[in-house]
Amino acid sequence: MQVIDKEPRIIVALDFPSRDTALELVAQLDPRLCRLKVGKEMFTRLGPAFVETLAALGFQIFLDLKYHDIPNTVAAACEAAADLGVWMINLHATGGRRMMEAARERLEQRAERPLLIAVTILTSLSEADLAEIGYPGTPEDNVLRLAGLAHYSGLDGIVCSPREASAVRELASDDFLLVTPGVRPASAALDDQRRVMTPLQALEGGADMLVIGRPITAAPDPLASLQSIQKEIAGFTPAARRR
Ligand code: C5P
Repeated sequence: MQVIDKEPRIIVALDFPSRDTALELVAQLDPRLCRLKVGKEMFTRLGPAFVETLAALGFQIFLDLKYHDIPNTVAAACEAAADLGVWMINLHATGGRRMMEAARERLEQRAERPLLIAVTILTSLSEADLAEIGYPGTPEDNVLRLAGLAHYSGLDGIVCSPREASAVRELASDDFLLVTPGVRPASAALDDQRRVMTPLQALEGGADMLVIGRPITAAPDPLASLQSIQKEIAGFTPAARRR
């Protein structure tokens, strides 16, 4: 497992329909204060060239494409992402242990590799949705089981909701990275997020890194918003975590 530099802990989600609006926002941010997340929408529209443009501006990129396929195909996709020079990538833990191990093993052949984390259960799925696709138990039961499988498969961490972070943290070692969206500064609008936590609450509850979109990207002054969230979490030390 490689040593993970958790600073800066904020990952700004770039969810824009166009390259120009995204780059206009990025020009106002500072790579010393945040990383950037590129997801399926922007990657499908703009492709690898957009990721390379962001990287050339000095940002570390989380390429959020949530791979899920047979082991060989996912391993090859991870290798292609690594060739782009991104900092972190992800896949679905429900692709199974062999898929996760194949991806991790392919990446480990490189001198430098992106971090590899897993999505466990999408937070959009309810217990009834899970029953319908044949997963018994609550979403949290499933998250914990799949988090354990991701850990066992040698992944660097998982994406999870801040509500799940403390339960996962109790099971996983401290170097297992928990990346949480669904975070809202105390002063911000909820948008379509429901069960949110503030950035500091999320870190104290066990999260390591925070994916934050609209509270920064839709703010009148995105850099000021980023700086104010940084200030909110500046005093956090892992030792302060509730146990
Ligand atoms: O604007 P907002 O802060 O809600 O953006 C959060 C980002 O995290 C979006 O890119 C969203 O797709 C992603 N995400 C999420 N909830 C999850 C998984 C991912 O909000 N459970």
